[in-house]
Amino acid sequence: MDPSDAVVLAPAKINLVLEVGNRRPDGYHELVTVFQAVALHDRITVSDTDCHGALTVTGPQAGPMVREDFRRNLAWQAAALLADAVGLPSPGVHIHLEKHIPVAAGLGGGSSDAAAVLRLLARCWAVDDERLLWRLAAQLGSDVPFFLYGGAALGRGRGELLTSLRLPRMWVVLANPGLPSSTASVFRRFAAGDRPAAAPLGSRCERIVQILCSEGPGAVDDRLWHNDLAEAALAEVPATGLLLDVFRDLGALGTQISGSGATVFAVAADAAHAEQMSAQIAEYAAWTWWGPTIMSEGELTSGHFATGCT
Ligand code: C5P
Repeated sequence: MDPSDAVVLAPAKINLVLEVGNRRPDGYHELVTVFQAVALHDRITVSDTDCHGALTVTGPQAGPMVREDFRRNLAWQAAALLADAVGLPSPGVHIHLEKHIPVAAGLGGGSSDAAAVLRLLARCWAVDDERLLWRLAAQLGSDVPFFLYGGAALGRGRGELLTSLRLPRMWVVLANPGLPSSTASVFRRFAAGDRPAAAPLGSRCERIVQILCSEGPGAVDDRLWHNDLAEAALAEVPATGLLLDVFRDLGALGTQISGSGATVFAVAADAAHAEQMSAQIAEYAAWTWWGPTIMSEGELTSGHFATGCT
């Protein structure tokens, strides 16, 4: 394997807005969301091996993944799917994940790792078929296609139909109460709950994109940082509510639960404000990070924006 292809950085995402509609016949919910990548990232190394392959996990957020059967890991499944699609009997690679993104936290860490492995192995195996990669990504999970492209995007369908966006760089703080949140369980709670008549699906996403691009995050009304899963995510992990309250008291320009939780993001006025909010929320959170949003993975490899701390 070409050594220059062997390391890849996989960023986390937040959902600036998440609007969820009805459950479809296939069991998924129709949604519209604004995905935004942030500089927090996992580090993935892929090397050749003589055997069928393996996956190992280290890092501050490795947690129970260290002991899990590696074949259940989405990054391994990505390698296996692509190997199968190109006619290889097995991936025949050793994938190493250095985890910095909290797991089951609404930040898309597992999805990002899977997309990064797809991209890396596609380069190594000379697979030049974007449609195939997108199809395999969507098969792996609803958020995986977004991470094939990264940056910012409007997601529709179950999250896999993407339109890329250019949004201004923002400084964000992430805080997590240290409890996992199950996406499937949060969607189940959402489906079982009462839903008041909502604005047309996607209208909030369109509005926030328009304001961010014309006036910046300071002009966004607090209620526009909206997540239809928030109530269900709060029921799943009640400790999340305190983080939202504290971020509001700390003067966040906007704060909301990311995806199905339990991570809460806060938008800061600038880097100094982000650092200050991160220091103050640490008293209430099990984990916190601050740093910028990113528009391409190139910003990570240059190390230019990797100023956050875990
Ligand atoms: O696609 P992914 O495997 O990440 O989704 C996990 C679970 O979340 C799904 O099995 C489904 O129950 C729920 N989900 C949903 N609607 C979506 C995305 C996910 O109901 N748009």
